[in-house]
Amino acid sequence: MTPEQFLEFARVLPEPLLLVSSEGQLLATNQPVADMLGCRRQELPGRMIFELVTESTNDIVKYLQACSSSRAMVIGSLTLRKNDGQMLVCRSQGAVIQPWSPESSALILLRLENRVVATSNFVLLNEKIDELAKEVQRRKQAEEALWKANQELEIRVEERTTALQETLNELQLTQTQLIQAEKMSSLGQMVAGIAHEINNPVSFIYGNLHHAHKYTQDLLRLVEIYQQVYPSPPPEIQKQVEEIDLDFLIQDIAKLFQSMKVGTERIQEIVKSLRNFSRLDEAELKKVNIHEGIDSTLMILDHRLQASDNYPEIKVIKKYSQLPNVTCYPGQLNQVFMNILANAIDALEASANNDNQKLTKNNPQIQIKTEVIDEKWIEVSIADNGLGINEQLHSKLFDPFFTTKAVGKGSGLGLYISYQIIVEKHSGQLSCFSEPGKGAEFIIKIPVSSV
Ligand SMILES: Nc1ncnc2c1ncn2[C@@H]1O[C@H](COP(=O)(O)OP(=O)(O)OP(=O)(O)O)[C@@H](O)[C@H]1O
Ligand SMILES: [Mg+2]
Repeated sequence: MTPEQFLEFARVLPEPLLLVSSEGQLLATNQPVADMLGCRRQELPGRMIFELVTESTNDIVKYLQACSSSRAMVIGSLTLRKNDGQMLVCRSQGAVIQPWSPESSALILLRLENRVVATSNFVLLNEKIDELAKEVQRRKQAEEALWKANQELEIRVEERTTALQETLNELQLTQTQLIQAEKMSSLGQMVAGIAHEINNPVSFIYGNLHHAHKYTQDLLRLVEIYQQVYPSPPPEIQKQVEEIDLDFLIQDIAKLFQSMKVGTERIQEIVKSLRNFSRLDEAELKKVNIHEGIDSTLMILDHRLQASDNYPEIKVIKKYSQLPNVTCYPGQLNQVFMNILANAIDALEASANNDNQKLTKNNPQIQIKTEVIDEKWIEVSIADNGLGINEQLHSKLFDPFFTTKAVGKGSGLGLYISYQIIVEKHSGQLSCFSEPGKGAEFIIKIPVSSV
């Protein structure tokens, strides 16, 4: 390209273009270059580029050489010295348009780009990047907020679920307690009903027994007088005397009445125990004899203490102290004795079936000890020599629904309810001591007048 061709081509382009020889001589420029420098375009051709820039001649030569020997565009930086003395930093893109030959030097086209413009581009770019970064930040924050909200929601859902589960558990517990209470109250009512039904005829028999005895004694006395007055009775009477074995009858009838008396007294005792156990009429606080409660409970459980085909008899050893009457809810306290004694019997039956329990197998026993601790407290201890309880189960004993018994056999509420009755209703204490294989001991401590 000749300088003329170049000028023709560069004239129409708005960007500053220069045609330079590889030695640095300006061959042609277009108007934008003259504008940048603040001079007339015609002044520029023939001048050396070094005069127009602040960079060292050496640097410029090196740059031009790089441009002439490269096929690609070479980027450089030129600081133009304007006519008014100001400096103008430009980015330059140099491309060889006619390679060097022995006849002529290389021709290089330089395209200048004002750095200010470039900088503003950079500013724009930076702004864009900034905006993008901010957008990314915003999105991150939104994402974080979303994650947090999600977390909170999950926690809330979890809390609600836990609360619902707790409510459900409570409801189940209340339901089972109600069933248990209902069962106890039906048992109480039944026991009280039976006791009442038996009580009337027994009192009737007991009351008449005395008279029947007396009448018989009177009749026998009469017979005796007859015998004295008529020592030789006619054969008919003599025959009857022999037939009924009058001497034996006279002896035996006294014994008979005695055993009937003992029998009816025993029935009366049982009735009393049954009534004592049910204590339906005593939902209120009462001052009672604790031993009566324990004894009546034992009476109810008596059939389970007897020997059977599968189990030996369970001996009950009572070590009762002199106890003051205790102010309590007697029906509820009996329920506690019932639960603990029934558990002891269960444990003894279980050890009777266990080959490793040879010792207790032949000698199952329950020891009930009562003691006065001080003037305010009494203690009842119920100990068995059954299977005992593993240490790791101790902490669970009083939990609702904790049972080691087969399905349908234990509901796991006995000790839980007992604990509520002793600790909450009577401000007492209920504790368990046990060594596996050596039995278990439950200790009830209650204030003499707690509530
Ligand atoms: N004397 C004891 N010897 C050995 N284990 C016992 C004794 N008393 C209680 N336990 C253990 O404690 C558990 C809980 O007793 P709890 O009376 O609360 O429930 P349960 O007897 O299993 O069922 P429920 O009394 O409701 O019919 C029993 O399953 C048993 O494992
Ligand atoms: Mg039980």
